[in-house]
Amino acid sequence: MRTTVGIIGAGPAGLLLARLLRDAGIDSVVLESRDRAYVEQRQRAGILEQGTVDVLRAAGAGERMDREGLRHDGIELRFARRRHRVDFPALTGGRSVTVYAQTEVCKDLIALQLKEGGPLLFEAEALAVEGAEGDRPVVRFRHEGREQVLECDYVVGCDGFWGVARQAVPAAVSRVFERTYPFGWLGVLADVAPSHDELVYARHDRGFALLSMRSPAVSRLYLQVPAGADPDGWSDDEIWDELERRLETDDDWRLTRGPITQKSVTPMRSYVHEPMRHGRLFLAGDAAHIVPPTGAKGLNLAVGDVVTLARALTHRRETGSDELLDSYSADCLRRVWQAERFSYDMTTMLHPDPEGTPFEGRLQLARLDRIASSRAAATDLAEAYTGFPIG
Ligand code: APR
Ligand code: PHB
Repeated sequence: MRTTVGIIGAGPAGLLLARLLRDAGIDSVVLESRDRAYVEQRQRAGILEQGTVDVLRAAGAGERMDREGLRHDGIELRFARRRHRVDFPALTGGRSVTVYAQTEVCKDLIALQLKEGGPLLFEAEALAVEGAEGDRPVVRFRHEGREQVLECDYVVGCDGFWGVARQAVPAAVSRVFERTYPFGWLGVLADVAPSHDELVYARHDRGFALLSMRSPAVSRLYLQVPAGADPDGWSDDEIWDELERRLETDDDWRLTRGPITQKSVTPMRSYVHEPMRHGRLFLAGDAAHIVPPTGAKGLNLAVGDVVTLARALTHRRETGSDELLDSYSADCLRRVWQAERFSYDMTTMLHPDPEGTPFEGRLQLARLDRIASSRAAATDLAEAYTGFPIG
């Protein structure tokens, strides 16, 4: 098999890249180790920055998002039993975000790719990337019980944090910057209308809680739990009781309970691999960087990477110049590090560290109070949350 761009992974990064390249007349093949049903069921985050919405729309993947996505003009911060709203359009000159689940983005992109795009092979597991330093890189993969080879001009690793593409970068070249957190998120889906019409990020001495949503009828809720906690160690009543404690306010706000349909625990990690390119191998999305979910930046960063890469590959096709491919890594990393900074700030402001001191707890409250009382501080949060421009 031969193609111009071999793409490993059919998460949002790989799927959107294939779509953008198709629009530019560049052929690609996507290899995905899981089956279609698995990729379409996997629960992930659900906040799209304005820039992400614009890109999906321009790629022809915005129809259902425009119908079913929910525009959100702010979030609520909750601490010390008080509520404070951060008004995005007022602070950013009109920007907002859209609540539309990553799973739905993937479903839309898969349907488009199968209808109009190049090959998208499910249950095709990449085993290794070879020859990245030469002109003819290859991906060795297993599909339908046979080992096969995909010959490419370029290979893009969109295979997430646990993928194989990053391993093709020699250790002498790789630099990893990382931080793990001593807590994770227990996430649940519940068949009940969200108890608030915007997302609520709550800091409580017992731990962080987040009230989010998937639709006007489905709530998505999270609780800070110890790292590695077992989701089945929590009964539904215990989860609702704990959410209620952490979200409680002094006014008449109430949490509405409903049947929990899914439970899982997500670890929290900050991670950046530099550089994001080695020869003819490019890394995009979670394959290159991870943010803790507190800033809702993971999907948006993946979109920024592949927009930058599609532009660089198109430039190369049209002009023969490698200039934008050469600056891909540095161009992406500037935006990546801003998202890392913001996600770290949000995480450390809202999650009491189980080994932290009372002093640190007071500082968290002071940081929240600063956002609640200073337009400059609130603007800083609103700008980062609604997203930094791509490239
Ligand atoms: N061969 C083929 N496919 C692979 C391999 C492999 N060896 N290893 C992993 N994959 C696939 C996974 O099954 C997955 O479908 O690569 C895909 C990677 O997708 P994501 O993990 O969704 O990563 P990405 O597309 O970069 O999207 C980033 O996902 O994890 C969230 O919060 C993160 O929202 C962010 C987004
Ligand atoms: C979600 O709805 O899953 C979600 C929302 C906001 C976040 C993280 C996750 O910061």
